[in-house]
Amino acid sequence: MQPLSVTLGDRSYPIHIGAGLLGDEKLYAQYVTSKYVAVVSNRTVAPLYLEIVRRAIERAGGRVVPILIDDGEQAKAWATLDQVVDAMLAARCGRDSVVVALGGGVVGDIAGFAAAVYQRGIPYIQLPTTLLAQVDSSVGGKTAINHSRGKNMVGAFHQPMAVIADVGVLDSLPDRELRAGIAEVIKHGFILDLQFVAWLEANMGKLLARDRAALSHAVRRSCELKAQVVAADERETGLRAILNFGHTFGHAIEAGMGYGEWLHGEAVAIGMVMAAELSARAGSLRRQDADRVKALIAQAGLPVQGPKLSMDRYLELMQVDKKAAGGKVRFILLDGLGHAMQRGDLDARLIRESIAAAAQ
Ligand code: NAD
Ligand code: GLY
Repeated sequence: MQPLSVTLGDRSYPIHIGAGLLGDEKLYAQYVTSKYVAVVSNRTVAPLYLEIVRRAIERAGGRVVPILIDDGEQAKAWATLDQVVDAMLAARCGRDSVVVALGGGVVGDIAGFAAAVYQRGIPYIQLPTTLLAQVDSSVGGKTAINHSRGKNMVGAFHQPMAVIADVGVLDSLPDRELRAGIAEVIKHGFILDLQFVAWLEANMGKLLARDRAALSHAVRRSCELKAQVVAADERETGLRAILNFGHTFGHAIEAGMGYGEWLHGEAVAIGMVMAAELSARAGSLRRQDADRVKALIAQAGLPVQGPKLSMDRYLELMQVDKKAAGGKVRFILLDGLGHAMQRGDLDARLIRESIAAAAQ
C-alpha cells in the first residue's frame, strides 16, 4: 500500500502501514546501507521482534547495535538517555549512524530524543509496536524524557526519517494496551472527522478483535489526520494543541493516581468524557453528541468514570499542566462533533461541574 506522507518541506517523511513490514528489508535499504544502526528497544519487545528487525537491517546492509532499556514509563529518564548515548559511543557510532526505535511510546520518545542530541543530532526511524505509538507518538517529532518535576519536561522536536507501523505486531499487545491506543484513535475522530467517528462506531468490535484490515484502516486514518495537523503547526504554536483533547483532565488523573496506575489512554478516555461534558455545558456541543462521545468510549471498553480525587486536587493538578498559559488553563473543546477549538476563558463553575459529572 502507498505510504502516507508527513509534509514538512525537507523534513517530510513517509509512514508505512501494513502487516509484516518489520522484516521488509526494502523499507530499510534507503536509510541504513553501510551505517551503524542503533536499535533501541526494551526487555519486553526485543525478545518478540528484535531478531526480525536485525535480520532485515543487516540484509539491507546496516550494522546493528542493539540497545535494550528497561520497560515502563520510569525508563523515560536521564539515566536511560545516558545508557543509550553511552552504548552508541562505545560502539563507535558516528554522525552518519541511524537510530531505530523499536517499541511503544516510551522507547520512541527516548530513542528519538537520543537521536536529537547524539553528536548534535542524527536521523532516526520509528518502528512503533503499540497501537498508541502507531497512531500518535511515532508521528510528529515530539521526543522527550520526564523530569522529577513533570512529564516530558526535557525534550526536542526531531522528526523521524520514516515511520514503519506493522499492525501484525499488535497481535501480542495486551488487551488493556490495545484499548488505551484506541482512545487516541477515537480522539482523532472526535476532533477532526465525524465520518471516522461513524466508522469507529460500526467497526469497534473488529478493532477489539484485532482484525488486521480494520486496524490498518484505523491506523491509517489516524495518521492521516495527525499528519495534517503536524504539517500545519509542527511546533504547536496553535492548531496542534487540539491533539490534546481530553489531555488536560487526563494528565490530572494520571498524575493524581500515580503514573502507571492508569494508562495514558485510559486517563485520556475519561478526560474526553469530561471535555465533551464541558463542551456541552459551554454551549458548543449538543447534549446528544456529548452522549455519543461517552458511548463510543464505553464501546471500546475504556473507563468513562473518573477516579476518586477531590475537586481541589483535580483543579490543582490541572494548573500544573504544561498547557496552562499565562496562569489560565486552556481547554480543548468540541465545536460540534468532528471539530475542536481552544478556550482559555471558561467559567470555573463549568469546569467543576463537568469534572463532577464524570467523576465518581
Ligand atoms: P509503552 O511504550 O510503555 O508500551 C506499553 C507496554 O506495551 C510496555 O510494557 C511495552 O513493553 C509493551 N509493548 C509494546 N509493544 C508491544 C507488543 N507489540 N507486544 C507486547 N507488548 C508490547 O506505552 P505507550 O502507550 O506505547 O506509550 C506511552 C508513552 O508515549 C508515554 O511516555 C507518553 O508520554 C508517550 N507519548 C508521546 C507522544 C509524542 O507525541 N511523542 C504522544 C503520546 C504519548
Ligand atoms: N500527542 C500530541 C502531539 O503530538 O502533539
